[in-house]
Amino acid sequence: MSKLKTKWICQECGYETAGYLGKCPECSTWGSLVEEIQQSSSRKPVNADFLNLQKPSLLNEIELSKEIRMSTNISEFDRVLGGGLVQGSLVLIAGDPGIGKSTILLQTSGLLSKNGKKILYVSAEESSNQIKLRADRLNIKTESLYIYPQTNLELIKKEIDDIKPDVVVVDSIQAIYTQNMPSSAGSVSQIRECCNFLMQTAKNENITVIVVGHVTKDGNIAGPKVLEHMVDTVIYFEGDKYKSYRLLRAVKNRFGNTSEVGIFEMGASGLTEVLNPSELFLNEHSEITTPGSVIIATNEGTRPLLVEIQALVGTTPYPSPRRVANGVDFSRVLQILAVLEKRVGLNLSKQDVYVNVIGGVEISEPAADLGIALAVATCARDVMVDTHTVIIGEIGLSGEIRAVNNIEKRITEAQKLGFKKAIIPNANGIPANIKGIEIIKAKRLIDAITACVSKDGRLGKKL
Ligand code: TYD
Ligand code: MG
Repeated sequence: MSKLKTKWICQECGYETAGYLGKCPECSTWGSLVEEIQQSSSRKPVNADFLNLQKPSLLNEIELSKEIRMSTNISEFDRVLGGGLVQGSLVLIAGDPGIGKSTILLQTSGLLSKNGKKILYVSAEESSNQIKLRADRLNIKTESLYIYPQTNLELIKKEIDDIKPDVVVVDSIQAIYTQNMPSSAGSVSQIRECCNFLMQTAKNENITVIVVGHVTKDGNIAGPKVLEHMVDTVIYFEGDKYKSYRLLRAVKNRFGNTSEVGIFEMGASGLTEVLNPSELFLNEHSEITTPGSVIIATNEGTRPLLVEIQALVGTTPYPSPRRVANGVDFSRVLQILAVLEKRVGLNLSKQDVYVNVIGGVEISEPAADLGIALAVATCARDVMVDTHTVIIGEIGLSGEIRAVNNIEKRITEAQKLGFKKAIIPNANGIPANIKGIEIIKAKRLIDAITACVSKDGRLGKKL
């Protein structure tokens, strides 16, 4: 008997090597290489037939066929997808266990089948009974939704050929396996092979395939990064498991914008769309009367979102002060603290600083800088920012406030929610079409601090 051929494969990035290494040379992760058995090289690649069909063609002779999209009937989901599911595409939905991936996909399947689409829901993790119970809870009644508890890829393919569905849902990619690979389900080789196979099925047969991917504790899709490279669209389903709302965020989309976010609320009968998310994030704010809390207008994709940022500043009991940032980039917070010290003269060297974004929202754009700075400064000086003020602006290292994009949209959203004042970068100018809200233009950080504190407040140039 010939010796089994094995390879060591990094479970994080898919790097392959013949022998064991403690650290992956590609992604520098320690202990991520796992030995996997490879099939004999005589095996015909699964995609050989498909590849043979392809011939090079001249760019100007290629006829543009417009992608056909089908609406999921969930407008938040459609928006994240760039206007609905594209026929013949492969979509990956990734998220923590228990966040609601199976729920949203079952709900989507139910709505799609109500619209006359044929759906095959492959459940590799749950039994038909469990799915039926969930469907009853979600009140899904339909005639063209097939549930198939199966983990074997070849058997799944057979059913796809028999049923000829419009959409196939595979829940999850880590739980299915192909018999062509000797390694176990969930290994890099299996995930890669199964995903490749599903991709070809999608393209060859013009079926939309949605796969579920689990996320590791570090927030990456379990298994290789290569999975993200292979698929057309990667959507993360995030949120605080202990709170009711969930965010659907596209991080890669070959058919649309990647900065869109869809917001849902998990209730007793499944997920419902949140059409006015700012209201949801601000519902507790009006009662807040403590210093260190400000509202910023961030921009998520094409939609502005108002969120609350809180800071807590206090004398440290430790030899070196603590800095904690939740929902905003840690190094960004350190940079803002440095600007506050140097350009405003706020001494924080003996102070612990905690910054938190309410509602588990992750803010990555620099337009939140000014909000963070004001939350810290007002908390440090124990003064309040007027609760009807929204704060927008990026901070440069010399303490200047830099312009942000989509200023008009942000202000309009704030105005819609009853805000009376907006502090914006001077560089943005006063946007046209904005009326009925007081606009304060700030050139430097100190101007913004002076402007947002009430006349008798202790903050100001004296800081
Ligand atoms: P699920 O879709 O099974 O998560 P995933 O597939 O991402 O692992 O969702 C499980 C959670 O959702 C579970 O904690 C119960 C909750 N849930 C509701 O609150 N309401 C509902 O109607 C449903 C179906 C689930
Ligand atoms: Mg699930």
